[in-house]
Amino acid sequence: MSIARERSGGRPPTISQLWAMKDELTTLPGPQLLAAFDVIHDFIDTKLNTGRIRVAEFKPDGSISVNEEAKQAILMLFPIAPMTEGQTGPFYWRDKVPPKLDFVDGVRIVPGSYVRWGSHLEPGVVVMPNSHINIGAFVGKNTMVDTATTVGSCAQIGANVHLSGGVGIGGVLEPAQAALVMIGDNAFIGARSEVAEGCVVEEGAVLSMGCYMGQSTKIYDARSGELLKPGRIPARAVVIPGTLPSEDGTHGTYALIIKKTRDEGTDAKVALNEALR
Ligand SMILES: CC(C)(COP(=O)(O)OP(=O)(O)OC[C@H]1O[C@@H](n2cnc3c(N)ncnc32)[C@H](O)[C@@H]1OP(=O)(O)O)[C@@H](O)C(=O)NCCC(=O)NCCS
Repeated sequence: MSIARERSGGRPPTISQLWAMKDELTTLPGPQLLAAFDVIHDFIDTKLNTGRIRVAEFKPDGSISVNEEAKQAILMLFPIAPMTEGQTGPFYWRDKVPPKLDFVDGVRIVPGSYVRWGSHLEPGVVVMPNSHINIGAFVGKNTMVDTATTVGSCAQIGANVHLSGGVGIGGVLEPAQAALVMIGDNAFIGARSEVAEGCVVEEGAVLSMGCYMGQSTKIYDARSGELLKPGRIPARAVVIPGTLPSEDGTHGTYALIIKKTRDEGTDAKVALNEALR
C-alpha cells in the first residue's frame, strides 16, 4: 500500500493529505508517485478544467474566499507531472501540462493563443492571438483577453472585463506567490499594464495604459488625498501611472494615482467593442 494511502486509512488520499506530504512527493517510488499524480490530475480535470469550482472568488462583502485545495493541487502538479508530447493540428508541444481542448460553447480562441488545460473560460470569452492563459485561471463570461495578454496561473478574472493588448496578469507559480490576482467584474485593464503579486482590482475599476501594480506599489487616492493600503484598487476607481515624492524629497517613486471615480466619459472610452465580438 502506498504511503499516501496508508496516511488516508486505505482510501485514495485527498488533496489536503497529499499537500501535508508535498515535500516527499517527488521521492515516492514510481507507482505511488503515479497514484498521487492521478489524484491531483483527476481533481484538476473534473473540478477546475470544467469550471465546477474556482481557485478563488469574491464574496458579497468584497472579501476573497480561496479554495486552498484547488491552489494546492496546482502547486503540487508541476513537480510530479510527467512530460508528455503531442500534436494538435500544426501545433506541437512538449510539456507537463497539455493544451486545453474542451472549451464550452460560445468561447472564441483566435489562432496563435494558447490556453492550458486546468483553466476555465466562460461563454462569450474571446482570446486574441499570442495570448496565454495558464492552469487554474478562471475567465468570466464575455471577457475580452486582447492580443498578447498573459493570464497567470490561478488568476481570477471576472465577467465583462477587458484585458487590453499586452496586459500581464501574474500567477501563483512564477514566482510562487501566496495570494492570487483577482480582477472584478466589468474592470478594464489598459494596454501593457501589469497586475501581479496577488493584487486585487475591484469591480468596475479602470487601470489606464501602462499601470504596474505589485504589493509594493504605492496607491495614492487623489479624491481623498490619502495613501491607500497597497495591493487593492477600490471599485470604479480610475487609475493612472504617476509618481510620489520620497520622504526626504530627493526623488520621486513610481506610484498608481486614483484620479477620479469612473463616469460616463470613462465608460465611453473603455466600452467593449461589440463590433469585434
Ligand atoms: C483611463 C482612460 C480610460 C481615461 O479615463 P477618463 O475617465 O476618460 O479620464 P479623463 O480623460 O477624464 O482624465 C482624467 C484625468 O486623468 C488624466 N489621465 C487620464 N488618462 C491618463 C493616462 N493614460 N495617462 C496620464 N494621465 C491620464 C487626465 O489627464 C486627467 O487629468 P486632470 O484631471 O489632471 O486634467 C484612458 O486614459 C485609457 O487609459 N484608456 C485605455 C486605452 C487602452 O488601453 N486601450 C486598449 C488598447 S488594446
